[in-house]
Amino acid sequence: MTEIRNIVILTGAGISAESGIDTFRDAGGLWEQHRVEDVATPEGFARDPDLVLGFYDMRRAALAKVQPNAAHRALARLETEFSGDLLIVTQNVDDLHERGGAKRVLHMHGELKSALCLSCEMRGPWDAPMLDRPPCPVCQARSLRPDVVWFGEMPYQMDRIYRALREADLFVSIGTSGAVYPAAGFVRDARELGARTLELNLERSEGSHWFHESRQGPAGELVPEWVDEVLGG
Ligand code: OAD
Repeated sequence: MTEIRNIVILTGAGISAESGIDTFRDAGGLWEQHRVEDVATPEGFARDPDLVLGFYDMRRAALAKVQPNAAHRALARLETEFSGDLLIVTQNVDDLHERGGAKRVLHMHGELKSALCLSCEMRGPWDAPMLDRPPCPVCQARSLRPDVVWFGEMPYQMDRIYRALREADLFVSIGTSGAVYPAAGFVRDARELGARTLELNLERSEGSHWFHESRQGPAGELVPEWVDEVLGG
């Protein structure tokens, strides 16, 4: 195997499933419990802000009851011990990568623990409910929304992600169904740009055929095994 110097890792809800956070599209997942159009679009927010703020308040509060799992910790270990470059691009809005010890994490769909002010465009750390319309810490307007990317909005830091994909010699996708673009297209981009591509997922994802290799199983087992391989090889 040629030496790996530059790894880009894409994670999705599946990496946090064993921590007890519901995924979106598995049986009983969030999109079975709530309509995407109601809670994850700008139109839904305009129609019923209380419903949307309450939904994200609930998900933010639930973070206090969960812990990072072996997969999050293994990626943090890889980040520390790997001698090359590494970037974790997550679609997740939870904070489990960081609490597992990872630092080079880019939240392309935003974060539950961040607020965005619709008046002054302040973006900053936030750990309180929003349903009671707290004032923006910068401009005092009562117009905060969760700093998460909704359908129809542009994911964050796409330039930086594509730069990293261009440099990558290994692209690894963990716990994501491959149903939502642009993240679902990263495997094709990375592969066309010359990277080897590996999928670690409970089952084959929608874009599984794009990967050079696909391994099936729980992230809590597959990810530590793969990290051992990279560090030991
Ligand atoms: P999904 O719910 O679409 O997919 C989760 C994937 O994780 C599925 O392929 C499962 O098979 C897999 N999975 C479940 N448990 C697992 C485990 N223990 N170990 C490994 N894999 C497991 O979630 P995402 O792909 O993250 O976007 O969804 C992508 C985006 O769609 C989300 O960021 C969100 C959602 O709508 C926005 O809200 C903008």
